[in-house]
Amino acid sequence: MNVCVIGTGYVGLVTGVVFADLGNEVICVDNDEKKIETLKKGIPTIYEPGLEEMMHRNMQDGRLLFSDDISEGVRKSEVIFIAVGTPPRDNGETDLSYVEDVAREIAANIDRYKIIVNKSTVPAGTGDFVREIIEKNKKWNVDFDVVSNPEFLKEGSAINDTLYPERIVIGAPNQHVAMKLLELYAPLERPMLITDVASAEMIKYASNAFLATKISFINSIANICEKAGADITLVAKGMGYDSRIGSSFLQAGLGFGGSCFPKDSQSLVHTAKKFGEDFNILQEVIKENDRRVSRFIERIAERYDSMENKLFGILGLAFKPNTDDLRDAKSIEIINILLEKKAKVKVYDPVAMENAKKILQGVKYCKNPYEVAEGADGLIIITEWNEFKYLNLDKIKEVMKTPIIFDGRNIYDPNNLKRLGFRYISIGRKEI
Ligand code: UDX
Repeated sequence: MNVCVIGTGYVGLVTGVVFADLGNEVICVDNDEKKIETLKKGIPTIYEPGLEEMMHRNMQDGRLLFSDDISEGVRKSEVIFIAVGTPPRDNGETDLSYVEDVAREIAANIDRYKIIVNKSTVPAGTGDFVREIIEKNKKWNVDFDVVSNPEFLKEGSAINDTLYPERIVIGAPNQHVAMKLLELYAPLERPMLITDVASAEMIKYASNAFLATKISFINSIANICEKAGADITLVAKGMGYDSRIGSSFLQAGLGFGGSCFPKDSQSLVHTAKKFGEDFNILQEVIKENDRRVSRFIERIAERYDSMENKLFGILGLAFKPNTDDLRDAKSIEIINILLEKKAKVKVYDPVAMENAKKILQGVKYCKNPYEVAEGADGLIIITEWNEFKYLNLDKIKEVMKTPIIFDGRNIYDPNNLKRLGFRYISIGRKEI
């Protein structure tokens, strides 16, 4: 099938590359010329395990093209995916202006029947909005359909999530269009659910909001565990064995960040308000998440007379492991507070350092975790990279000024750290 994917961010690029790998002819379009130049050279513009090899393979076979010309993409394809950003406005509402711009471009170039698929995360009702824009502005009198096909991939495992999704949701206005999308996804042999357009749009938001709720729920339980002398990792394990609850997304920590959960939760609260509904539970989920960092900082500050001129080593900058993404990363929030308190900060992340340098000044960028620990009054773990789980802790202790670890992601066994002679403050567990 001839497929066009508009927008080469996380979702667009990974989707385009995987569709090419399934044997389709794919054009990935973006109006960022620099990005397209980089991609044309076979260099991925995001860090994602497995992406580069798959990109090369399909570019060499001629099935994957990159272009900054949207008209070329639209005219050559029968199915057009919209995968552009949908950032939040200040009031939490989703800004649909990029989606609108693309819909207008499609309208200017649509020259025969085509299927337009919304892959961007958009509030219920956006399918109708895109339909109206194309209908009003189309240059030729041609027919088209608008479908919602939300994406559930996670950064760091995006290729795998796209190849083996737990479900494929297709929100289609009629059976004929649904069949066309089924055909495109058939090689994956995964469960597919066909719905109306608004339901598909809602499935995406409801899923992300539910997962965010799980995280804030377990973090609230962790707060109580700290006072009650319970261990949140054991509590989560015990809860997770109940198949009605499930063990995933019950990891207590510094809260959720990234490009989806914070903005999608806000957006759903806003959509609810628009329809006259108060989504109180979700508002509390957001509030609990917003309190994670200040609570953690308070626990750090308690250990020192003053933070001024104290040296803190930071392990992990990315909002989660296996990505170089810093959007809504807790690291930025924590480091800025430390700097405000006039502390000194050294940092290390296995892949997010280059991105960090663009937005974070006044810190020392180190080559490895041991350099970060050298002379430090405290070591703060923000991202649970595997690399940090297997450090030589004897060596870390030897080079630190004061052997104290603040672990925002519970990557170590407290008893082990005690045996090694550290003070260890983690989440939802007794301080050692
Ligand atoms: C999420 C959804 O999982 C995905 O389906 C959707 O398409 C996009 O948004 P992503 O943002 O890539 O994916 O990361 P995810 O692994 O879901 O983690 C989101 C945040 O929650 C991270 O900050 C992570 O650290 C945090 N988290 C996750 C926890 O704090 N505890 C957990 O148990 C799980």
